[in-house]
Amino acid sequence: MDFITLISFIAIVVILLMIYNYVNYKVPDSLKDIHSITFFSIVLSRLIKREGGHDKLYLRCKEYFERDGVIKMSFRGKWICTITDPVIVKEMCLRTDVFPKLMFNEILPNSAADRHFGVNVVHSNGDVWKRHRRVCNPAFKTLPVHLFVEKALKLMDILEKVDNKPIEVRDFMQRLTLDILGKVAFNFDFNNLEDPNNPYVTAYNEVQKLFRNPLVTIFQIDKIPILNQLIFRKIDKLNNLFEDIIKEKRKSLAAGHFNGDLLELMLKACDDPDNQILSDTELRCNLAIFMVAGHDTTAAALSSLLYLLAIHKDVQEKAREEVLRVLGDDLTPSAEQHAALKYLNMAIRENLRLYPPVGSLPLRVVTEDVKIKNFVIPAGTPVNLFIYGLHHSPKLWNNPEEFLPERFENEHENYSWLAFGGGSRICLGINFSLIEQRMVLCLLLRKYEILLPQNSIHKNGLKFKNTMSPYPIDLIFKRRNE
Ligand code: HEM
Repeated sequence: MDFITLISFIAIVVILLMIYNYVNYKVPDSLKDIHSITFFSIVLSRLIKREGGHDKLYLRCKEYFERDGVIKMSFRGKWICTITDPVIVKEMCLRTDVFPKLMFNEILPNSAADRHFGVNVVHSNGDVWKRHRRVCNPAFKTLPVHLFVEKALKLMDILEKVDNKPIEVRDFMQRLTLDILGKVAFNFDFNNLEDPNNPYVTAYNEVQKLFRNPLVTIFQIDKIPILNQLIFRKIDKLNNLFEDIIKEKRKSLAAGHFNGDLLELMLKACDDPDNQILSDTELRCNLAIFMVAGHDTTAAALSSLLYLLAIHKDVQEKAREEVLRVLGDDLTPSAEQHAALKYLNMAIRENLRLYPPVGSLPLRVVTEDVKIKNFVIPAGTPVNLFIYGLHHSPKLWNNPEEFLPERFENEHENYSWLAFGGGSRICLGINFSLIEQRMVLCLLLRKYEILLPQNSIHKNGLKFKNTMSPYPIDLIFKRRNE
């Protein structure tokens, strides 16, 4: 190919891309005054700077978030409004009829996500959601605290052998929270702490990797025949595991065995004549979504809090003093002791403000025109609530970038702290996660001083690789002289 042909070819490709962009990303008149960024520019800046957390999006658009409470982003041919305006944020939580969720089976029919998660308590609206929630609610009310303890103690056994050497806590916490979730949700031992390469963990991790892979999430290779069979095979392996667990559980319940895990309580709720039952497929989809909703989120929360405690020695000391005072000789807290750990709870809330594991809520779509200040978001527009932006707004928080657990001594404005969402769609696993976090922190603070290695890349704040995960966080757990 000669030079002229090459240049002409490139020019044609660029023009075609521009036409494609113009046709697909044409901004509706009512949205044109809202500040916009393109998905392409986010990806590009991620590739160039190799950093891409919610912090970057907030910093880049802070002026507009603070002034207008909304920006728009292009994604797959649609403009999505990302909202921090406190008035609309409250509406989004309370008016589920105006802000219903976008559903996998509607936006991504026959996709990998649809095949694995289907319709469940997170991905449903209206009466269907009510039916799912009615079955799940009782299970999360009476949490089997004893099932959390076994794995939390296993973590301590493993740490014992590592003493003083840096440990990558993100991976460690992910292994722990998967084990706890398996035990508490359906009495299944993933054994990720002791044997991270076993076939169950591998099957689970392979599916999670799929949903983090941009080829699947953005380019939708799971829609391409033949290729999708390779992807679906991995998904079916995990789906089958969940289905077997449900079948086994029914058998063991019929034989009179009961240990109080969530699946048992859900199956019992299905037997209640006042409840409409969930099918086994629906139960399976709920187990799949509990794993995603409850695994990485709590692991991220624990990792960032351990990091914050390492760099804020005063907070670490104060939290430790409280743990030792409240628990005495007990290793893990009782129900009353959980409630008495006031300062630890404040530190947990402050960490979830500073580093919310769910930085923005899953997409909703507005069913009627919504007015934000001088803008109108037309019916049919996808919107998301930007929790990170809300949590870092100087209008809502003094010194928002500082880690100050004391700020939670006083009440703060409703709907300014939304780490677990709000309104009727508020997280079902709040207590699950808080019990887990307090239990692990009590064990660790009693026994170890938590330190950040001198050469850490996170010396001046956590550096995020992408919206969900920071770069590896090495911490040292130094045995205390009791
Ligand atoms: C630090 C840990 C956690 C965080 C930050 C978190 C955050 C959230 C948020 C923000 C929502 C609202 C989603 C929305 O409105 O679209 C949510 C919903 C939900 N979460 Fe969590 N979550 C955590 C732990 C858990 C755990 C441990 C479980 C279960 C084992 C769980 C299960 C759920 C479920 C089932 C919903 C859907 C509730 C509904 O729509 O009715 N979460 N979570």
